[in-house]
Amino acid sequence: MVIFSTIGGTTRKVAQRVAGRIGDDVLLDAGEALSSPVLRGVAHVLLFSPTYGDEELEESFERLLLHYDWESLKGAGFAFCELGIYTGYENFGHGLDQMVCRTLVDHGLHQLAPSLSIDAVPITDWMMVDAWSDLILSHPVIRS
Ligand SMILES: Cc1cc2nc3c(=O)[nH]c(=O)nc-3n(C[C@H](O)[C@H](O)[C@H](O)COP(=O)(O)O)c2cc1C
Repeated sequence: MVIFSTIGGTTRKVAQRVAGRIGDDVLLDAGEALSSPVLRGVAHVLLFSPTYGDEELEESFERLLLHYDWESLKGAGFAFCELGIYTGYENFGHGLDQMVCRTLVDHGLHQLAPSLSIDAVPITDWMMVDAWSDLILSHPVIRS
């Protein structure tokens, strides 16, 4: 399962590309994921959020993180990708991954790959996106 939030559409494109590359056909935006019945038996969830504000999640992604029934995915693997712009920000990463990963680990999910921070302005680093997809694809949870 792949879940993303977006305002300008870039994060959707990145999520679609990763989902296509790893062969996952469950692609939901954060609002849809929150309002849909929880899917049982999901082995992995890949999450994508843009940064809006200094180290702030996009709003619908924040709602997902706070209110989704993560307990129902206990035991599943996860990976998180954040998009943003490095220019003008001191930290190399965008700073969202700690709050996302801690929330999911606290609910019993386990991290499949290190979080990816993509510089998406002015152009998306597709080579990084593809390398990250391949890293996830090499994980036994995804291959099984
Ligand atoms: C109003 C606005 C605020 C933003 N704030 C940040 C920020 O604080 N930190 C950051 O790294 N990127 C920031 N960005 C860059 C976005 O995260 C980046 O453009 C991202 O690709 C947008 O994804 P989306 O098209 O899926 O909405 C901001 C962009 C906009 C338009």
